[in-house]
Amino acid sequence: MDLSSHRPRGGPSEAISFDDLRGLRQEFTRFMLRHRFGMEEIVTKLHILRDEFALMHETNPIEHVASRLKSPDSLAEKIQRKGCEATWESISAEITDIAGVRVTCSFVSDVYQVFDVLTSQQDVTLKEVRDYIVEPKPNGYRSLHALVEVPVYLSDGPVAVGVEVQLRTIAMDFWASLEHKIHYKYRGAVPVDLQDRLREAAESANALDGRMESLHAEVRGLDESGVSGLSDDVRAELRAGDDLVPSERLLEELRRLADGPPLP
Ligand code: GTP
Ligand code: MG
Repeated sequence: MDLSSHRPRGGPSEAISFDDLRGLRQEFTRFMLRHRFGMEEIVTKLHILRDEFALMHETNPIEHVASRLKSPDSLAEKIQRKGCEATWESISAEITDIAGVRVTCSFVSDVYQVFDVLTSQQDVTLKEVRDYIVEPKPNGYRSLHALVEVPVYLSDGPVAVGVEVQLRTIAMDFWASLEHKIHYKYRGAVPVDLQDRLREAAESANALDGRMESLHAEVRGLDESGVSGLSDDVRAELRAGDDLVPSERLLEELRRLADGPPLP
């Protein structure tokens, strides 16, 4: 649909057709609604995975799912900025984050697991991946971005709707939300020393992710192998689940196990 067919054409003296305005408004509502449905489908898929994992497995890779539909103002700004052709097709092809879903996971391995499980579903088509975990942005930003398409079944048939899914760890999310606030506060012109400190903070977040991941792997490995050689209370602590904040005692016993010969 060509939007310009609805535009009032002439100069300030030419009357605007209210039918045209009403028609354009209605099309816009339908356009945004489609994206909302696509977004809700992805959110539902993630909730199903999260709930099923919680029920069937000991660990749950999904900590949190959030979604947002781009506001009309922000959409209009981006259409203008990108010099997008004024058709609904071009807008949905070029503005790929009208529907956005964010998934927060505890561990980097969970990020990839959720990505694999979601994108291998039959009705989810992976259009593009941007792996800012393997290749962080120069400012330190890390996340895994997937552009997916899902079919939305409307009364007149199915339409494929694009949804941008951002997957990240809690540490990456913490960093990104702070960076976003700083970026907003300085309207993009962040002082150089602050940029440097943000980059350092991103490295610290990444180091923390690495440490948490290896601790998690260690704990799970031990748990699966029967946790032999650990005292009863430490074993109970391990079994307490994924929200585990390891005590000094646990860490000490794990270190001892990793260093020394197997205990009787
Ligand atoms: P836009 O940035 O949306 O124009 O699209 P793009 O084509 O540059 O995509 P990209 O994958 O770079 O970013 C898409 C989204 O990821 C953004 O809208 C943000 O939500 C998030 N993002 C990307 N880079 C950063 C960053 O440096 N900091 C933060 N906080 N978020 C970012
Ligand atoms: Mg960008």
